[in-house]
Amino acid sequence: MTMNQKRQGQELGSNEQSATRVILLLCLILHFLATSAQQEDPNWEKQWCIADQQTPDDVLQQALSWACGPGGANCTMIQPNKYCYFPNNVKDHASYAFNSYWQKFKKQGGSCYFNAAAMVTDLDPSHDSCHFEVVP
Ligand SMILES: *[C@@H]1O[C@H](CO)[C@@H](O)[C@H](O)[C@H]1NC(C)=O
Repeated sequence: MTMNQKRQGQELGSNEQSATRVILLLCLILHFLATSAQQEDPNWEKQWCIADQQTPDDVLQQALSWACGPGGANCTMIQPNKYCYFPNNVKDHASYAFNSYWQKFKKQGGSCYFNAAAMVTDLDPSHDSCHFEVVP
C-alpha cells in the first residue's frame, strides 16, 4: 500500500463518520419536531362517539351490552346514582358506553361503529355533571 492510498482510506473513514453524525443530528431534530408538534397542537379536533338516533332501541341495547361487557367500556357513570344515569334511556346510555369504548380504544384501532349503531360527532354530548371524556 502506498502512502497515497493510505491517506485516501483515512479520509474516506472520517467522511463516513461526519456523514453519520449529520444523519444522527437530523434524526434528533425530526424526532424533536414530531414530539413537540404532538404535545403542543391546541387545534386537535375533539370528537365523540354517540348512538345514531336512527338506530332502534333493541339494536342499541345489544351494542350497549357488548360495549359494557366484552368491549371493555367503562360504564360506571351510567349506573344508578351516578352522574350519567339520567336521562335513563337506551340511547343516552348507549352513547355514553360507545364514547367510553371509542376514547379508550381508538388508538389501538377500536372504531366508532357498533354495526352502524354509532356515529362520530364534534358536538360535546356532556350535560349537567355527566362528562363525556375526549382524548386526542
Ligand atoms: C371508570 O370510570 C370511573 C368514573 O369516571 C372512574 O372513577 C374509574 O376509575 C374508571 N375505572 C376504570 C377501570 O378505568
